[in-house]
Amino acid sequence: MWSRHQGLQAENGQFLLEGEPLRILGGSMHYFRVPKEYWRDRMQKMKACGLNTLTTYVPWNLHEPQRGKFDFTGNLDIRAFLDIAAEVGLWVILRPGPYICSEWDLGGLPSWLLRDKDMQLRTTYKGFAQATESYFDNLIPRVIPHQYTRGGAIIAVQVENEYGSYAKDSNYMEFIKAALVRRGVVELLLTSDNKDGISSGSMEGVLATINFQKIEPILFSYLESIQSNKPVMVMEYWTGWFDHWGGDHHVFDVDQMVSTVSDILTKGASINLYMFHGGTNFGFMAGALHFHEYRADVTSYDYDAPLTEAGDYTSKYFKLREIFSKHYAEPLLPAPSLLPKGAYGPVKLKRSLSLWDILHLTGEPFKSEVPVNMENLPVNNGNGQSYGYTLYETVIYGGGKFQTKGHVRDRAQVFVSSQSVGFVDYKNQELDITEVPGYRKLRILVENCGRVNYGTRINDQRKGLVGDVFLRDVPLRNFRIYSLDMNSTFISSLNSVEWSDLSEEKTGPVFFQGALEIGLSPLDTFLSMKGWKKGVVFVNGKNLGRYWDIGPQETLYLPGTWLWPGVNEITIFEEEEAGSSLYSVDVPNLGRTQYVD
Ligand code: GLA
Repeated sequence: MWSRHQGLQAENGQFLLEGEPLRILGGSMHYFRVPKEYWRDRMQKMKACGLNTLTTYVPWNLHEPQRGKFDFTGNLDIRAFLDIAAEVGLWVILRPGPYICSEWDLGGLPSWLLRDKDMQLRTTYKGFAQATESYFDNLIPRVIPHQYTRGGAIIAVQVENEYGSYAKDSNYMEFIKAALVRRGVVELLLTSDNKDGISSGSMEGVLATINFQKIEPILFSYLESIQSNKPVMVMEYWTGWFDHWGGDHHVFDVDQMVSTVSDILTKGASINLYMFHGGTNFGFMAGALHFHEYRADVTSYDYDAPLTEAGDYTSKYFKLREIFSKHYAEPLLPAPSLLPKGAYGPVKLKRSLSLWDILHLTGEPFKSEVPVNMENLPVNNGNGQSYGYTLYETVIYGGGKFQTKGHVRDRAQVFVSSQSVGFVDYKNQELDITEVPGYRKLRILVENCGRVNYGTRINDQRKGLVGDVFLRDVPLRNFRIYSLDMNSTFISSLNSVEWSDLSEEKTGPVFFQGALEIGLSPLDTFLSMKGWKKGVVFVNGKNLGRYWDIGPQETLYLPGTWLWPGVNEITIFEEEEAGSSLYSVDVPNLGRTQYVD
């Protein structure tokens, strides 16, 4: 048993825990990306790989979905997660943000912050600072008892995340640090930056750590030059990479990974594998990047990590295990057995329902002369709409050129009298609407494809229609706006209406429902969306995430723990055209691959 007197120290070029040298062999795994029933399994696999530390972010947007309304239950039960880590015998480095980047919508910041048109995220701007304080008032007291010196697993806490790459406010990092310390964080504090960010992201009295994928000899000497006599810690050693829609599935060469990890360890440094187990961006949580162009991240966060999205071993796992095992006098625990996968065959699609027939389920539409972005809609107790789709409806006379002038975020399908006339996005900003004398209904179904999680555009992430759209150069007016966040209450309300036979509705924005029949003990499986165009899948009301035929991802991970023995309800929201079948398969397909270079 450890006596708990002195937490992690970073002195004389090394980490000490209770005065004993500790080499951190860490791995990232995010509780919010893995079903809670599997937390222990993944952690045991981590432990058996020779890791001694687990690293997790904390997603503010999930914990405070509406201002002042907090959720730390179920899959968000961070205390249970910390307890399991302690039981499995892993130390924890907590990364509470408030900004976490992580390919997560708005870097984990709640979208309701953007209701304030002057919002300056990641600064000491009053509106952001006050919201952060209130969030920390609710989060930090929950994790305080889990600190090392209080008998828990947390040995270090990270201040913000890669602030050096943003660095908009020189008072901000001190503000976050003080907000943590004032609430009782006593363990070692650290910052985490890439090479270019370290000089402005690091701070006095806080250990600077570094993030990279390829080692450059200069990195270590550079780190030592800004903080001499401190241990070197690679806080994010990227074991793979993430994917975006329309791109390839990234893989990172296992031998290259092994050689860099060995180099890091030979240099005496500590390491955290980002990711050790990536998991899934369930729901509408995937983030996006927008540098030259806007690119939305896919649903899977497999990351080509040592454990796959579904928690299975890869060759990276076993090679790392070999390396890490040398750091222990005793042999490592045996690697736990795999969770079997099931192939349940075809999902029997039974019925369908046009989106146009269920708009009343969203309540009265909001009437507005001008378009209003989703965050500023008067829904969700004054918090606006965060995710999903928003429908803007108006009446037009005749036809002509329809122009968005860049005001569609991020993508929309346009309909005239329920007939699709095409899609608009960042690139395609015009459509021709056939000239027909008379009044017709124009519908613009806008999808929020994910807010950027990195870069300077984070304040500019309002979604829906963010300004005027035009017909024949005249701005359209008098909208009826339907908020379609497709949350679980909405999905279950679909059962209150009458559905059509499958044959009747196949195209357009349509919901499909079917049954997935499972035996007595449900296993993990993957839904193959081959043949379907674009949409979202819900299983027993849970949002599995988006699919899109531009790839790369073709299957969606469906955790067995979310299935019931017997019949399970599958609901699909398809934007364009249904596939001819839907299959449950036992092997994932994340698409054509490309090596990260
Ligand atoms: C940075 C961030 C992480 C993640 C990785 C890329 O290092 O700190 O949150 O976004 O990039 O996967």
